Order: sequence, then C-alpha cells, then structure tokens
Amino acid sequence: MSKVTAFSFGRKMSNTDVFLKEVLLKCQEAGHEIRFIRPDDLDIKPCTGCCACVVGIMSGRTNGTCIHKDDFHILEDAYYDADCVLIGSPVYETSPSGTFKTFCDRFGPSHDITFLAEAKKERLANGNPLMPDERAFKPRIGCLVGVGGARTENWTIMTIPIMYEGMMSAGVDVIDTHVYYGAMNVSHILGVPEQMARADKMAENVIAALAAETDEERTKWRGEEPGACPVCHQSMFRVYPGTDHVECAICGIHGVVKMQAGSATYEFSQAEQDRSRMRWGGKLEHRNEIANGAMTQKKVENLRELKEKYLHVGE
Ligand SMILES: Cc1cc2nc3c(=O)[nH]c(=O)nc-3n(C[C@H](O)[C@H](O)[C@H](O)COP(=O)(O)O)c2cc1C
Repeated sequence: MSKVTAFSFGRKMSNTDVFLKEVLLKCQEAGHEIRFIRPDDLDIKPCTGCCACVVGIMSGRTNGTCIHKDDFHILEDAYYDADCVLIGSPVYETSPSGTFKTFCDRFGPSHDITFLAEAKKERLANGNPLMPDERAFKPRIGCLVGVGGARTENWTIMTIPIMYEGMMSAGVDVIDTHVYYGAMNVSHILGVPEQMARADKMAENVIAALAAETDEERTKWRGEEPGACPVCHQSMFRVYPGTDHVECAICGIHGVVKMQAGSATYEFSQAEQDRSRMRWGGKLEHRNEIANGAMTQKKVENLRELKEKYLHVGE
C-alpha cells in the first residue's frame, strides 16, 4: 500500500477538486491510502525572498527553516509522507494560480534534494548532528492537472510547464499530465464523462506505476502524448532565432531541431538529458552554482551611500 496525496488549488468542490478526488477514489479502491489538501484553506504566507532557508541548509544551521510561522508545515508533512503527489490548479491568465506559485516559492529551494543531500554529507563529515528529514529523499511519482475555462487549449499554454515547479526540487518523477480546457462550457466536470474518464485513466497510471517492480517501470512516462522533450515530455522550448538550437523551458537542457520533409525532430544528447533540472544532475549543478556563488558573494563597498540616491525615488 502506498500513500497518494492530492493538493488542489481550485475552488472548493469545483472542477479541479473533483478531478483530483476521482483519481484519489480509484487509488483508494486499489488499496492505497489517500489524502486531499486544499492549500487555499490554510494560512500560507508568501516568500519574502530572505533566503534564510537556503542559507540555513548551506551553513549547517537549519534544515531549511522558514522565517514564517504559518500552516506551511502541513503541506510539507503531507508532501514528505506521500509516495505519489497529485497537484491540480485552475488556469488563471494562461498559468497556474498565484497560491500554487506561493507554494512553489516556499517549497522549492528549501526542499531541494541535492541541497539537502550535500548538507547531509557535509554534516556527517564534520560531526554536525542536525540531519535533514530522511523523507526528503524518498522516491516519488507525480501527476499534474490544469483546469481552464477557455474553449481552446491555447489559453492554458503556460499552466502545465509552470506546474513542473511543484515537482522539480523534490525530484518527483512526473508520469502523467492533463489539461481539461473548456471547463466553463459546462457548469461542472461531473457533467463531462470524458473528463471523469480521463481522471480514471490517470488513476490507472498511478496504480500501475506504484505496482511496478523496477525503477524504470515506476518512473516511465504514461501521459497521452510523448512530447518533444524526452525528459519532461512537454513541448515548450526557447528557440534561438537563426540557429537550430532549442532549450527545454522546463528541464533547461539544450538540443537541436532537425527538419526532414516538413517534419521536425528534436534531439537531446544523453549528457544534456542527465543535466535536466528534473534529474539529479541538473539540480546538483544549480546547487553548486549557489554554493560557489551566492554563498561566497562579492561585497559591494559603500553600499549604503550608493543606495542613498535611490531610496525615495518616485515615492
Ligand atoms: C482570474 C481568472 C483568470 C482566468 N484565466 C483563464 C485563462 O487564462 N485561461 C483559461 O482557460 N481559463 C481562465 N480562467 C477560468 C478558470 O480557469 C476556470 O474557471 C476553471 O474552471 C477554474 O477551476 P475550478 O473550477 O477548479 O476552480 C480564469 C479564471 C479566473 C478567475
């Protein structure tokens, strides 16, 4: 038996909530323990940008403690307990909701598995007994769901790519994603059998992945489309005009586009795939750039005087 936990950023008992609850019910029928959480109902304060969490991890003083005293620990605990994380968000202005982003800002840097693993190594070496929560390193799978009111998928375009942020730092393997668009055409998803069937299909994918006997089988992509990026299976690239160079917006990896008889293929070397920020290599690369840059940053002399000119500009 595994634990499947859903985080819904939609309205109470509306489309996102019910899609996720349908996935949970099917997982429960298959014998899994389930949990449903609505972060919007909790007191989750926005990140202030102080970086105390990251400095705490890298200096050995904390395990990423935030300066806020609010309900965030409920989300952290539920995420850490889960073997499968489902995240659903309504589409607002082509993207996931603001509270979803707040969750990511609070969760991302302070729960990065490479930050925590390197901290653990250093602390073991220098006798610091303050160990990170072992649950941070637990292998997890995940699914992402976006719900948009617009009649075309066009107005949901940034939603799933941005939602990968909710899985990235914890190293979750995303096995399925889905966007239900046109949700405003019907008063509730309960009147849209094909969307409820898609929720059942997502549950089937989760159940199969959780039953897998190998890591490869557990983490394999089970979504509808293979996507152009071989790592995240999405198709959102930065293009470099005038070249054949493409960069996956989610993974941050570089590849080339090849045109043959009017059809494009995208190639990413194994080395690039391994440095995706969805995988250990990419996360460690980022951890090291912070450890060797931000943590040893160059001081600007006379900063107080230099700032003086800008203090009350435009007030
Ligand atoms: C502020 C706001 C912005 C929205 N922007 C979009 C949008 O860009 N694209 C879209 O498809 N739907 C948009 N919608 C519609 C919602 O995605 C839609 O109502 C959805 O069903 C909400 O999910 P829920 O029913 O689970 O709460 C927007 C709704 C709100 C309130």
